[in-house]
Amino acid sequence: KKVVLAYSGGLDTSIILKWLEIEYGCEVVTFTADLGQGEELEPARKKAEMLGVKPENIYIDDVREEFVRDFVFPMFRANAVYEGLYLLGTSIARPLISKRLVEIAAETGADAVAHGATGKGNDQVRFELAAYALNPEIQVIAPWREWDLSSRTKLIEFAEQHQIPIAKDKRGEAPFSVDANLLHTSSEGKVLEDPAVEAPDYVYQRTVHPEDAPDTPEHIEIGFSKGDPVSLNGKDLTPAEMLTALNELGGKHGIGRLDLVEGRFVGMKSRGIYETPGGTIMLEAHRGIESITLDRGAAHLKDELMPKYAELIYNGFWYSPEREMLQALIDKSQEHVNGTVRLKLYKGLVQTVGRWSEDSLYSEAHVTFEDDAGAYDQADAAGFIKINALRLKLLAARDKKG
Ligand code: ARG
Ligand code: SIN
Repeated sequence: KKVVLAYSGGLDTSIILKWLEIEYGCEVVTFTADLGQGEELEPARKKAEMLGVKPENIYIDDVREEFVRDFVFPMFRANAVYEGLYLLGTSIARPLISKRLVEIAAETGADAVAHGATGKGNDQVRFELAAYALNPEIQVIAPWREWDLSSRTKLIEFAEQHQIPIAKDKRGEAPFSVDANLLHTSSEGKVLEDPAVEAPDYVYQRTVHPEDAPDTPEHIEIGFSKGDPVSLNGKDLTPAEMLTALNELGGKHGIGRLDLVEGRFVGMKSRGIYETPGGTIMLEAHRGIESITLDRGAAHLKDELMPKYAELIYNGFWYSPEREMLQALIDKSQEHVNGTVRLKLYKGLVQTVGRWSEDSLYSEAHVTFEDDAGAYDQADAAGFIKINALRLKLLAARDKKG
């Protein structure tokens, strides 16, 4: 028996590694992804080797470009936001991790994959729905749902018994749980569990406090092609380079902080602190370019479907026919979403202050308050209003009678 484990190199997944060997007696293949979480990956290799994993069973991949190009950008074409605020930074990374787990399982002849998500949240659902969608035969092992290491003390004991090194700061309670990638950092649990209490400053990891951000605003220009950001201040960037650069700008200006209570798919509510600096700029910029290049009918239909699309991603249905159907519709809408947006970054805020495009639908000739030289005949509006008013008049007449 062979299992591919999503391995971070941290204490919890190291314990899982040993536990899988002991409890299932299986050979473990580790997969560590560089999703832009900002951590060195070589220590994860060293640690896996030290725990006895064969060198050929250690997979370490830089998937940053794929993550942004094939997951983040398609999602941002939809302006996807969950429950009005959450930019889905964790949700969108899970399907990619599962895809690689399943691919590596095929390459190494493994029959199972394993992950370190707790049995309480969304992530177990996302990992597993994606894995089953990509390989109906795959088995999934979720140690957190099976083992009896229910407390920190038991975990530490297990680690000590099996020579798993424990960082000094991990001996006590971890202060909160963190998940990070190029799109966001999310922090949950422990000191954040009471939603009535403001999060301490040290929770924030990649944005400055807006009050400490520079006193002078900064202007940037983002160029779009078919709905995707492709250039920054006139320079072409790859998807991962773009998000990296926007993260830096957003972080410096304190943009993209969020303190949210959200409804998990499994039914409970949870409180999280999110930092999505680059993503917050991208969303504003994308809405800015759509405002001049998308037809009203197309734009409004997209906005009606967006919450459904966001919920599918949140709930782990990236690899589902309904998500793919919506994606086809969204991608079709982006054919003419080209042009440039000028944005102002200042103390936690990002605002569109200019937008222009070869494909613009904006017609100054029509909208001007000055003489429009016959572009538009005001008299046309009279009949348009009369006919639209007809049913409202009939209703009002009835109500007046009664
Ligand atoms: N609540 C977020 C989501 O479901 C983040 C979950 C993972 N975050 C964490 N700190 N463990 O997408
Ligand atoms: C976890 O339970 O592993 C993190 C939180 C979540 O999945 O919602």
